[in-house]
Amino acid sequence: MKILILKQDEMLKVFSMSEAIQACREAFELYSDGKTDIPLRVNIDVPQASGQSLYMPGYACDAGALGVKIVSVYPGNPAKGLPSVPAVMALLDAQTGMLISLMDGTCLTRIRTGAASGVATDILSSPESSIFALFGAGGQAETQLEATLTVRPAIKEVRVFSLQGVEEFVQRMRNRFEAKFNCKIKAVSSPAEAVHNADIITTVTTSKTPVYDGKLLKRGVHVNGVGSYTPEMHENDEYFVTRAKVYVDTRDGAFAEAADLIIPVQNHTFSFDQVVGEIGEVIAGKAPGRVDAEENTFFKTVGSGVQDIVTARRIYDKAVKLNIGSFIDF
Ligand SMILES: NC(=O)c1ccc[n+]([C@@H]2O[C@H](COP(=O)([O-])OP(=O)(O)OC[C@H]3O[C@@H](n4cnc5c(N)ncnc54)[C@H](O)[C@@H]3O)[C@@H](O)[C@H]2O)c1
Repeated sequence: MKILILKQDEMLKVFSMSEAIQACREAFELYSDGKTDIPLRVNIDVPQASGQSLYMPGYACDAGALGVKIVSVYPGNPAKGLPSVPAVMALLDAQTGMLISLMDGTCLTRIRTGAASGVATDILSSPESSIFALFGAGGQAETQLEATLTVRPAIKEVRVFSLQGVEEFVQRMRNRFEAKFNCKIKAVSSPAEAVHNADIITTVTTSKTPVYDGKLLKRGVHVNGVGSYTPEMHENDEYFVTRAKVYVDTRDGAFAEAADLIIPVQNHTFSFDQVVGEIGEVIAGKAPGRVDAEENTFFKTVGSGVQDIVTARRIYDKAVKLNIGSFIDF
């Protein structure tokens, strides 16, 4: 019995953002078609170490994907020289239940979270989009940028606004993407400057209050809301959200966790019934996408285990094909 160990650099070597977007597209469609089994996340508190361990299992028969991602949150770890949020993905053979791969869970999360926005941006934003505004410059920001540039090659200008780390992030992104995607990437000093005339906006911050003024957004904009994942984290402005066509990754997840929707519902300015559909329903032609250039669209993602298992399976298949990674006997 052999298990394939995949580290971050090996995953990135074998798997492109285009392939990740394709994997997430498949995952969302299977989920919305009721062809997956994605139980609720199991959270275990470890008070002795002030830690928490989160287990996200899932099964997608048609994708041959079965496994669990384990993400732990240990704020005391950096003092020990360890990451504060260690994560691993355990992939199983759906035919035998045997473990076939362990891969870097942090890298997987970044890939599949960027890819989710890539799927929605591809489906919902204007193909002529030329200005992209990115809020946040943390661990998730790079794949958000890569995914948007991958699906919208007409983008010429990227503006990044972040409370911290923006200069270093922008320099790194320039080196990686400016020549590849023929665009200019710059830091901006205010949210208003970021959103002025922007065609696509992605928020990927830890903010608990809206990061821009919704009244400043142009008609026809598409926004991806990625950061908020608790009923208190209100990242996108209610003025914008309640006037947009709203899409989600999963109704179950977004309605339980996304303050960007929950707070407007509590304020009676929005109802969950107004959500146009899950993005998987749009992919399957069961819900409408953008129908005119003037309408605003909002995609809220809180993340789903279905993205993890399907993306992990596709990464594993590719790595086996290219003989990349380390096989260990078990
Ligand atoms: N939707 C999903 O599937 C998914 C997956 C992973 C992470 N997340 C969430 O995405 C968020 C970002 O993750 P990360 O790992 O990049 O976090 P991080 O802590 O590495 O970075 C957070 C960034 O947000 C910026 N920020 C905070 N408040 C801001 C504000 N008001 N305006 C502009 N920038 C602001 C910070 O400067 C920082 O650059 C977190 O809330 C995380 O839980 C969502």
